[in-house]
Amino acid sequence: MKYYITTPIYYPNSSPHIGTAYTTIAADAMARLRRMKGDDVYFLTGTDENAQKIIRTAESAGVDPHVYVDDIVSRFRELWRLLNISNDDFIRTTEARHAEVVQYIFNKLYEKGDIYKSEYEGWYCTPCETFWTENRLVDGKCPNEDCAREVELLKEESYFFKMSKYQGKLLQYINDNPDFIKPLSRRNEMIRFIEGGLEDLCVSRTTFNWGIKVPFDPKHVVYVWLDALINYISALGYPDHEKFKKYWPADVHLMGKDIVRFHSIIWPIILMALDVPLPKMVFGHGWFLGKEGGKISKSRGNAQDSFELIARYGPDPIRYFLLREMQYGLDGTYSEDDLVEKLNSDLANDLGNYVSRSLAMVVKYIDGKVPTPGQDTDLEKEIKELSSKVKESAEEKMLACDPASALEYVWQFVNRCNKYVDETAPWNLAKDQNNTERLNTVLYTMVECIRILGILCAPFMPGVPEKIRPLLGGMDFFSDWEKADSWNVIQPGTIVDKGQPIFPRIDLSQFSVEETPEKQPDNTAEIKEINMVPIKDEITYEDFAKIDLRIVKILQAEKVEKADKLLKLEVEMAGESRTVVAGIAGYYTAEELIGKKVVLVANLKPVKLRGIVSQGMILAASDSEGLEVLGVEKEIITGGQVK
Ligand code: MSP
Repeated sequence: MKYYITTPIYYPNSSPHIGTAYTTIAADAMARLRRMKGDDVYFLTGTDENAQKIIRTAESAGVDPHVYVDDIVSRFRELWRLLNISNDDFIRTTEARHAEVVQYIFNKLYEKGDIYKSEYEGWYCTPCETFWTENRLVDGKCPNEDCAREVELLKEESYFFKMSKYQGKLLQYINDNPDFIKPLSRRNEMIRFIEGGLEDLCVSRTTFNWGIKVPFDPKHVVYVWLDALINYISALGYPDHEKFKKYWPADVHLMGKDIVRFHSIIWPIILMALDVPLPKMVFGHGWFLGKEGGKISKSRGNAQDSFELIARYGPDPIRYFLLREMQYGLDGTYSEDDLVEKLNSDLANDLGNYVSRSLAMVVKYIDGKVPTPGQDTDLEKEIKELSSKVKESAEEKMLACDPASALEYVWQFVNRCNKYVDETAPWNLAKDQNNTERLNTVLYTMVECIRILGILCAPFMPGVPEKIRPLLGGMDFFSDWEKADSWNVIQPGTIVDKGQPIFPRIDLSQFSVEETPEKQPDNTAEIKEINMVPIKDEITYEDFAKIDLRIVKILQAEKVEKADKLLKLEVEMAGESRTVVAGIAGYYTAEELIGKKVVLVANLKPVKLRGIVSQGMILAASDSEGLEVLGVEKEIITGGQVK
């Protein structure tokens, strides 16, 4: 069976955060489970780069938009790598393979008469990249509750797509296919929206030229949503490629609830107009909200740096928490405190502790050698039945895009395993030689349960089987989902190891900023001020503007031979590398500098220092006690201007 699953393609106008990560993690878990079932899976994600808001953000940062998106796209790719996302392809809408398909489709629809030229007069919300008619605005602002920002009045020549022509056909399709839009609440919402009447959609813009050109009228660029939706088939090589024939239609388009409308109205109509079958399911999950309410987003400023979170907790706890917290059809709440609490309770206590205590007993009572089991009692029979129920139910929930419920089933098994240990009390059995057979059965069952848990956790937390594998003798027991209710798989005689806890407990306070002790009154500030270097002569703004200050990242640093104070730095600026010699060796070791984003005087005439050509100067602040290079937090991309 083939299984084609997609995430939305993300706007690379800012770094990915927990909210955007959720969709990708959920799709990844679904893709992994289908692969473990033996399906031929294709999992697609990517970036939506031709949006007007991207060019605006890049322009206001003073950075070339290509450089800007390249930098952010590399962060998306890196985050997915760190989170163990197993996508088969990553499509960027600035790639030629995508643009060609968009132009082909635009042409085809134009030739068919479904796209026509007219004039658009109405409102546009750039953050949402959406056209709005006057009557839909709320207090003159964007009607999206999550946005509610200013809209702009547009009046420009545009091409229009005849959505209205397909209204009846789409409604009929939705009525005939109850699983097309999920969950039910979103389906009802969409039906109401379509019944309210569909207007033709403006599908080109002329007031900027960032995007894919209309092939026969290149002063127009294609409207970003028309362009973006096509990624789901351009990545497969529509219309002729084998991949398209094999994987289309998509089994699931997974996304947040805010963009279900585009996927269940505009997208199916494009496909209908092209005579291409529709995706089987458009699934809209809820949002992650911050503790104080409100969707987690960069613009609200409530999004925590995902890279920092991974550095603290690793990918599996983050994946587990997000998947478990987003209940079917509802919004979830995210906070770091809750994440740590779940990590400690579910992962360290329930799962991790089960693994540790079981293996410790095998090591202690029978020297770590997996025993041959004896006769099953009702307890073992019950566990075996439960494994089948959990495996089937988790699988069913995942097909329905409900990872939270799937994980609830998996945790039923985790809890049952812990209860089994308490009920069988191997420590008592070990006291009496007459119980050897029973002890062997119990310990064998406990080890088999660890193997099964490795399988059940694998789609959600791919790191778990990796951690368990060396403890169970190094065999790969974990890639076949069907083995989650097979028994007697581990060979008696296998040597197990109790290893380290697979999820150590975390104390959140270790990350909080230390309270600074009350300071003694400090009068050195006064002295420093008195000794301050006199301010230089006044200059004009034009003089200042001649200095080009840029953000660069230090990639390498090494001492310059026979020069105590000098470090030779290799810095990166928007993909370009430079050598800079800096007199800061007395204050920093080479290691401390690597990875820092600092300010470079980028247009300073190169000079030769100790035989090395230094292309610029790093800025630093100093006083009588020390020196500190000036830098920025990692959000500013390299090449960004300092003004
Ligand atoms: N580029 C469009 C999608 C085009 S698909 C053909 C887009 N991009 S986005 O980057 O703004 O958002 C991508 C997805 O992330 C959306 O599905 C959105 O719902 C999801 N999320 C963004 N913030 C979120 C939360 N706080 N919580 C859950 N999902 C969130 O829209």
